[in-house]
Amino acid sequence: MTQQTPPPPAAPRLSLIEKASLTSGAGDFVTTAAPEAGIPAVTMSDGPHGLRLPKESGDGGQVDLHSAAPATCYPPAVALGSSWDPELAHRVAGALADEAASHGVRVLLGPGINIKRSPLCGRNFEYFSEDPLLTAEMGGAMVRGLQESGVGAALKHYAANNQETDRMRVSADVDERPLREIYLRAFERIVRRDRPWSVMCSYNAVNGTLLSENSRLLTGILRTEWGFDGVVMSDWGAVRDRVAALRAGLDLQMPGTHGRTDAEVVAAVRAGELDESVLDTSVERLALFARRADEGVRADEGVRNGPRMSADEHHHLAGEAADRCVVLLRNERDILPLDPSGGSVAVIGELARTPRYQGAGSSQVTPTRLDTPLDELRELADGARVDFAPGYPAPGGEVAETAGALADEAVRLAAACDTVVVFLGLSAADESEGFDRAHIDLPEGQILLLERLVAANPRVVAVLSNGGVVRTAPWHATVPALVEGWLLGQAGGGALARVLFGSVNPSGKLAETVPLRLEDSPSHLSFPGEEGRVRYGEGVFVGYRGYDAAAREVAFPFGHGLSYTSFAYSGLRAERDGDAFSVSVTVTNTGRRPGREVVQIYSTGPAGSTVARPPRELRGFVSVNLAPGESREVAVVIPRGELAYYSARESAWRVEGGDYGIEAGSSSRDIRGSAVISVEGDPSGVALSGRSTIAEWLDHPVGGPLLMERFMAARAAAGAAAGAMENPTMARFLSGMPLEVVAEFPQSPVGPEGVAELTALAAAGTPAGDA
Ligand code: BGC
Repeated sequence: MTQQTPPPPAAPRLSLIEKASLTSGAGDFVTTAAPEAGIPAVTMSDGPHGLRLPKESGDGGQVDLHSAAPATCYPPAVALGSSWDPELAHRVAGALADEAASHGVRVLLGPGINIKRSPLCGRNFEYFSEDPLLTAEMGGAMVRGLQESGVGAALKHYAANNQETDRMRVSADVDERPLREIYLRAFERIVRRDRPWSVMCSYNAVNGTLLSENSRLLTGILRTEWGFDGVVMSDWGAVRDRVAALRAGLDLQMPGTHGRTDAEVVAAVRAGELDESVLDTSVERLALFARRADEGVRADEGVRNGPRMSADEHHHLAGEAADRCVVLLRNERDILPLDPSGGSVAVIGELARTPRYQGAGSSQVTPTRLDTPLDELRELADGARVDFAPGYPAPGGEVAETAGALADEAVRLAAACDTVVVFLGLSAADESEGFDRAHIDLPEGQILLLERLVAANPRVVAVLSNGGVVRTAPWHATVPALVEGWLLGQAGGGALARVLFGSVNPSGKLAETVPLRLEDSPSHLSFPGEEGRVRYGEGVFVGYRGYDAAAREVAFPFGHGLSYTSFAYSGLRAERDGDAFSVSVTVTNTGRRPGREVVQIYSTGPAGSTVARPPRELRGFVSVNLAPGESREVAVVIPRGELAYYSARESAWRVEGGDYGIEAGSSSRDIRGSAVISVEGDPSGVALSGRSTIAEWLDHPVGGPLLMERFMAARAAAGAAAGAMENPTMARFLSGMPLEVVAEFPQSPVGPEGVAELTALAAAGTPAGDA
């Protein structure tokens, strides 16, 4: 809305010390104002799935993390990501903006769009997916939803912040291709398309340089390549050297340091170590940031005396969102949904009464209210009897004897009821910001309880509450139904009850793979690193890209999620549409209930790629709501450029020419239709030389025919070596050799003196800029 406004010439009107002070916070969550230059303070708040309202107390502007005022707790990103519904994320973000603005908060610290590299990352609950496209679509929708309502986003944590172990110091050592294709890709897409007001730099280093001092990432890539015009703020405490940070492109140190580091900036300018223009540039960006925030405030004036939506409406939206996030992993013999009108249900597990609905750390919200699955099941039951036994102690209350007695009571109840719904999951002590998990198993006591329940009554429905994936493989085949409830926010209890009793047909899909074992995860051997460095050894093979490439069985694949109805796919078509491909497929609801299907479009190939390619990569998705018997054609557009890989050698995205497969799937391992598209490649950006191999020469549009001509001419002259290209083994042998080496062979079609001539001819025949 206010994005294109040019920055005012604020810097010249301010003294050096005033300018320095603008580039650090005035308090924990507020920027410094310069009223005389028309720069108001900007109040910020965590983020990302609810407002952690800053309650500044006393003169220090300190924030009490434990007494945040109530705000709606929406489903955290782990859940929202499973909705595969950007429109929903957009609405949730609009509601977050509404609450934020009504409290004077102008920037929400989120969304967090880091990639789930390992299932162990303690903060995976705050991130959307292991896939960059899904992450970008969900995160970008949140940015738009916030900013269209006049509240800025702080896209975080830039970049490669994929673990909590040693997070303030560790260097993520990642090659250029995975950096671009996996870890920066969602940032790039959102920065270019959705124009966030700010980006928050992460604590860690990338390839040895702390993000807060990383001019390549903060300036070279973010601003120069992607055109970012907003403010880069530090994560809280991420600045080590304030002057180096400013120089690298970090505009705002958060939180403030009561002037200590401002003085360092002033001293550096006076000593000639920091060019004042660097400071001026940051001040101009901060002035624009403050102005965007201020325009948001003024747009609100006269419209509101408090939120536009009531607390009830916020809660309702949180529930509607949660409905779409639940993932039905397994449903043998259609044991679900349960009949609300009769029979008896044993609800077991303390988590049904004391739900876990968000993760621990800076994103923790004090909810306005909290629905529990147990109450909501009782509320929805319309004749069915709902009995409860806690089964295991609440976290913190772990006493062996109590656990035994609680389990005995639960088993008795299970045996006496028609169906058992057991709530299993992790506690805040198992996963949180600030540390990683050591394993992905459920607590042992819960697994033992589950075994006893299944023995007492085989009709068991397991419901999971967890922020990071848990291992289900040892036991999931023993339960006919398994529901992944993630952390669903304050209204999640109602959503679970609605799914269990069938008033909501589940439609979430996994945004991350559930492996059979932790050891199968692609990053396993290099997570979380050692001695301050973590090597991203799996390269681009993150998540399903890696499980697929290694042909590993998984418990539940990326994109998986069942429904109470069934969908058939037909008539997949993929057609060229300008510089894009339009993929369409017809989906039919072949079951008896209305439902939503998330159609996933993957690409494969091309055959003979010169780089290692994941077997399939998500290129688009679309949801469709269908009544029983209804069919609809859905379409996804894939720009040709989306098929590119990042060439480290050429420092550029490059589309390889060739045949690519296009697949429509109900999950990444449930492909329902495929087609082939023929894609025109980008010309190589690498100029041919004597060091180029025979294969590279032959691949080149100009060099190839030139060299082939020489081979044919030499063959006509009946040289033995000249016929080499017709002998497949010889051709393969030669193809990996640089031309200048082959040129030394006796009877070579090109002699040593011919290499330079051929190189010049190839360069001359290649359109400018292509070679
Ligand atoms: C977290 C950020 C958060 C900030 C402010 C940091 O520790 O990494 O995500 O926004 O604190 O609370």
